[in-house]
Amino acid sequence: EKKAKQIMLEAHQLVAKLYHYVLTETPYGHEAMKYLQKRGISRQTIDEYGIGFAPDSWNFVTSFLQNRRFSLDLMVEAGLLAKSEAGKIFDRFRGRVIFPIHDSQGKVIAFGGRALDPSAPAKYLNSPESPLFSKSTTLFNLHRARPYIRKRKQALLFEGYVDVISVWQAGFPQGIATLGTALTEQQARMIRRNAESVVLLFDGDAAGQEATAKAINILQEAGVVVRIAPLPPGTDPDDYIRQHGAEAFSQQVLLQAMPVTAFRLKHLRDKHVIQDETDQKQFIEKAIELVNELDSPVERDLYLRQLAEEHSLTLEAIKWESRRLYKQQ
Ligand code: CTP
Ligand code: MN
Ligand code: MN
Ligand code: MN
Ligand code: MN
Repeated sequence: EKKAKQIMLEAHQLVAKLYHYVLTETPYGHEAMKYLQKRGISRQTIDEYGIGFAPDSWNFVTSFLQNRRFSLDLMVEAGLLAKSEAGKIFDRFRGRVIFPIHDSQGKVIAFGGRALDPSAPAKYLNSPESPLFSKSTTLFNLHRARPYIRKRKQALLFEGYVDVISVWQAGFPQGIATLGTALTEQQARMIRRNAESVVLLFDGDAAGQEATAKAINILQEAGVVVRIAPLPPGTDPDDYIRQHGAEAFSQQVLLQAMPVTAFRLKHLRDKHVIQDETDQKQFIEKAIELVNELDSPVERDLYLRQLAEEHSLTLEAIKWESRRLYKQQ
């Protein structure tokens, strides 16, 4: 008898093909095809990523699996189907563009679905945790991106699969993403096994900023060198590429990625109003405290010199202040 997990994997592979077929070969997929076209996702990308469509039906996948003699309860456990409190089994994904999610070996273990209907209760719906799928140990696109990440020793880390796909299409194949949750320690260790450094490309909104701050610490603890790419407020990497193109993305976003301390200093500068010498002193103290956290004396020296120049101070004054604040800790 086959192991339950093996059957769940087979079902995912079949259903992924089915969703892709519905999208690309049937009239039920027309609206979703138009939607993807409007978002600038090419036919080649649709095929490479196996993007599909789950029709707006309660029993399309349920009947498909039943006809193929799959145990429906097992399919509920696998996350492909859902079960009501009254015990009725139905399709989990309905009326959604489907993005297959693979494990690091390239097997489909889950799906992400984006609602076509803007009034749908949730824009994104992912498969639930299952014997195949754990969000905290999965990185979207890792199986495809791994060779490129290893070659460059660097990964690009995004919030979502649409960003990864859009950036892949623009010619950057080393993108991976968390799945709508904060980066975990396990994911950071998976990244460290393949890359020395990471460029963070989370959305330029409040949620993205918060996710960035948390990811920095987790990645640094895993021994990953972190840089943060600047995105204009209110845009995400997919928006940016569509508005400005691949060349600008490379020059204005990727190449402008900042080391953590530079990023934190910029953040501090952006939110600090400096009107008089008291404000200035306060800002400089906070900035020095940030720099003092660095382990490397060379790095500390570089930033202290920048601060001195920026505020037309002598390096001696800044260094003296740095030692004073360090002893106070
Ligand atoms: N995401 C997810 N689960 C959620 C919410 C978000 O997996 N419950 C992921 C999706 O992969 C999504 C990404 O997080 O692509 C970013 O979410 P968000 O910024 O809210 O999506 P948008 O960029 O606004 O989505 P779109 O561009 O499709 O309108
Ligand atoms: Mn195809
Ligand atoms: Mn967002
Ligand atoms: Mn976004
Ligand atoms: Mn987006």
